Amino acid sequence: MKVHIADHPLISHKLTVLRDERTDSPTFRRLVEELVTLLAYEATRDVRTEVVSVKTPVTITQGVKMASPQPLVVPILRAGLGMLDGMVRLIPTAEVGFLGMVRDEKTLLASTYANRLPHDLSGRQCFILDPMLATGGTLVAAINYLIDLGATDITAICILAAPEGIAHMEKSFENCEVPITIVTGALDIKLNEHGYIVPGLGDAGDRLYGVV
Ligand code: URA
Repeated sequence: MKVHIADHPLISHKLTVLRDERTDSPTFRRLVEELVTLLAYEATRDVRTEVVSVKTPVTITQGVKMASPQPLVVPILRAGLGMLDGMVRLIPTAEVGFLGMVRDEKTLLASTYANRLPHDLSGRQCFILDPMLATGGTLVAAINYLIDLGATDITAICILAAPEGIAHMEKSFENCEVPITIVTGALDIKLNEHGYIVPGLGDAGDRLYGVV
């Protein structure tokens, strides 16, 4: 498994505003979108392309276009939805599938409550959107779900990650043949006793959409 921790002053700046408890939901949403677009730039570094020829006003030359099948973007509901616009802005031709996962706040275990995905993901590059890699339970379950459907290449884009979550992922996928990459805006210090990332930014879903 590859882990890429973004190291860019613009990302750090936006993350700092995002962490601030005084940042309101509209600003929080806009910043999440902007951050995802920046992280997606790194996450799509190995996106598959094919060679095409293009006629410029001057000559004919070779370029590339995104190869088929198009990448599949999978936001994990609810908080991952806040990352979708930023991602599809960068890859407008991507297809979008949805995975609803909820974490039991006592056991911290993740379970699936909804899914809208193609039945066959063979040959697909998949990009999972989940803002908070905390215990890693949700992401491990989501990735296993996509592997069972045949995904051949999976990248998870997270705004923040905790060392415990990364360790859980490393262990869960140490013998996995499917290449898995995590791209995150920052690696925080730890999880607290409630499974929240420290220093973190609180509950990403609540901060995006308000408490329900
Ligand atoms: N989910 C969140 O929204 N925040 C955390 O800190 C951990 C999990």
